[in-house]
Amino acid sequence: MNERSTLCIKKGELVIGGCKATELAKEFGTPLYVFDEDYIRKMMSLYKGAIERHYSGNGLPLYASKAFSCLAMYKMADSEGLGVDVVSGGELYTAHMAGFPMEKVYMHGNSKTDEELKMAVDYGVGTMVLDCLEEALILDRLAREKGIKQNVLIRVNPGVEAHTHKYVQTSRPDSKFGFPVADGSALRFVREILKFENLNLLGFHCHIGSQIFEKQSFVLAAQKMMSFVAVVQEMTDYEASVIDIGGGFGIYYTDEDPRLTEEDYESYVEAIAETLKSEAKRLEIKEPYLLLEPGRSIVGEAGVTLYTVNTVKDIPRLKRYVAVDGGMGDNPRYALYQSKYTVLCANRADAATEQIVSIAGKCCESGDIVAADVALPEVGRGDILAVLSTGAYNYSMASNYNRNTIPGAVLVKDGRAETIIKRQSLDDLVCLDVVPESFEKSWVTL
Ligand code: LLP
Repeated sequence: MNERSTLCIKKGELVIGGCKATELAKEFGTPLYVFDEDYIRKMMSLYKGAIERHYSGNGLPLYASKAFSCLAMYKMADSEGLGVDVVSGGELYTAHMAGFPMEKVYMHGNSKTDEELKMAVDYGVGTMVLDCLEEALILDRLAREKGIKQNVLIRVNPGVEAHTHKYVQTSRPDSKFGFPVADGSALRFVREILKFENLNLLGFHCHIGSQIFEKQSFVLAAQKMMSFVAVVQEMTDYEASVIDIGGGFGIYYTDEDPRLTEEDYESYVEAIAETLKSEAKRLEIKEPYLLLEPGRSIVGEAGVTLYTVNTVKDIPRLKRYVAVDGGMGDNPRYALYQSKYTVLCANRADAATEQIVSIAGKCCESGDIVAADVALPEVGRGDILAVLSTGAYNYSMASNYNRNTIPGAVLVKDGRAETIIKRQSLDDLVCLDVVPESFEKSWVTL
């Protein structure tokens, strides 16, 4: 819980956005994703303001919508004056349906399909982030057919190894993303792209990874990107005007993580901005327009997942499992990254913690753990558990494994809760299934 969050404990009850967690659970059912609207908006405006304060507004934060994508998120990003980054036709479609201004959409992806490229050009996506030559060829043709010049950035790999889980590092030398600067591939790709008549190269993008706390990693990325701009300028005469540093700012999950204040987040932006300014001076190139793509830091700590306890099982001398009504279907992050979480009993949030337990999900899979080895008071069937910091990459990575339904999401503010994503129904699970006609026939012949 931090200064930005409305999460608090009142009379032993966990409260978020002025709503009691237990009442939310009763009204909307569990599992339930709960999002704190004030938190999201504060973080969005923090990034917007930081670019204004430290870089004369010469830039734009893009909400990395892969962290949590739904109509309401694009609406909030728009009303806070942000752009967005999308990475699939599905995210693009959602932004489009939310009425998000397409000129402020940046589309990523290392493997965009023909359909996604066409959709992007048809919708008028402002900037495409190129990650291969094939897509450049297709985009150039589509842009020519439409009679436009498509703005593009090139994703480069500056080779900054950030200290984070290796699955979420994206700038290792063998990364599938972008063109490495170190071996000259990035420069070669720039030369190729400059030949296309219907592509307008604005500059370069990088993203070094996620859940990063070291300011120095971002500074290093900014330095490397500026050096790359200078090298390209020297070798080709092409002057980049945009640098996108990506996202990656870390958040608090457990006491193993720092609790960043608003000033801390601001200081990341300041450090990046100062690096761009000083490097521009040193290298005698112009100060580029700065793009940032925060995702996790905008929605992560804004989200809480509520579960109902179903069963408590002791494996004598080894473990106690508290099994809940959700699991890896709504939060696969433990299964994927051994992620750690802080868990509270929402209806006895100030009770002393008496035991170390593992929160197990309901899927047929031993790895279906929501959080391992967490401290809780005594709990039993019907208690409501709250898993904190589940706003980013939980709903967005949810699945229907075991044909469990994906929970809904509510947005809370000032004691009011509004649905932003409906809970899936059992009918939703079968609505896309089709029984082949031939099966019906074979029934007749049996
Ligand atoms: N920009 C690009 C190009 C990205 O690939 C990402 C995240 C972001 C921005 C946003 O990064 P953030 O500010 O959220 O760290 N599923 C993993 C995280 C994967 C991150 C993928 N890319 C997790 O649950 O931890």
